[in-house]
Amino acid sequence: MKIKKINKYIGAEVTGVNLNKPVSEEMKKELYNALLDNVALVIREQSFSAEEFMKAASLFGELMEDQNRRYIAEGVPMVSILSNRHVDSAGKPAKIANNATWHTDHTNQEYPPKFTALYPVALPDTGGGTALCNMREAYSALSDDWKIKIDRMKTANTLISSARAATGNLDIVKEQKEAGTPPMIHPLVRTHPERGTRSIWFHKAKTENIIGMESQETQNFLAELLEEAIRPEFTYIHEYRLGDMLIIDNRSSMHKAGFDYDHSQHRMLYRALVRGDKPF
Ligand code: SIN
Repeated sequence: MKIKKINKYIGAEVTGVNLNKPVSEEMKKELYNALLDNVALVIREQSFSAEEFMKAASLFGELMEDQNRRYIAEGVPMVSILSNRHVDSAGKPAKIANNATWHTDHTNQEYPPKFTALYPVALPDTGGGTALCNMREAYSALSDDWKIKIDRMKTANTLISSARAATGNLDIVKEQKEAGTPPMIHPLVRTHPERGTRSIWFHKAKTENIIGMESQETQNFLAELLEEAIRPEFTYIHEYRLGDMLIIDNRSSMHKAGFDYDHSQHRMLYRALVRGDKPF
């Protein structure tokens, strides 16, 4: 197995390993540490059914269910399907653009996933990559003024924030209203439980508000923060090849789906989530 950095600040490519074959404890540890060091791994030349993908992802920890139970791989409840061909209950295209802005997954949960693993099943000819940003570098490069401003901020997270309700998946918006679940409060800057590093960490479409701010003011503030924090040198756009397994440490990064492709072509990824810790 070889692990080679893709960029200085984010991403490493792994070759020479077949995750369908038994993986030693030593190799598992090497992969795990490389993931934490590099924030994301691209493990090349895999060949997975949904079930095999689930097994490969579980080498990195215990899996958790995707909270959206609509689009699940048949017979494999731990693998969800991201596709531009999903429709809602009215038969209209489901709003897949929601993953196309910087975010980290499932921030409305008390224990959001620590890793997100993705594996392409169908790809457009060009575009449709996943962009990643190393948010611990982004945080550390902020001015002291910015750090002081955001260090103690807390976000109130819902499945779909009211700012996003008009463009979100209408079935999910309705479901959220009916459930009446109270917002989940998380820090805006979280500490990595295994490395002690600090990272900017949020999902704009799930942030109802920053505590002490109104909803619209929050959206404006988060947009300004992203503008300030996300720098090209901290980012990497992974343009998939069939056979790539991408796995991301969500505690140190944010990501977004590429929207820059011909939407008449099919883009479909399997996704698996590794159970995480409570952000602090
Ligand atoms: C995600 O947001 O978890 C998926 C990103 C993608 O579809 O590229």
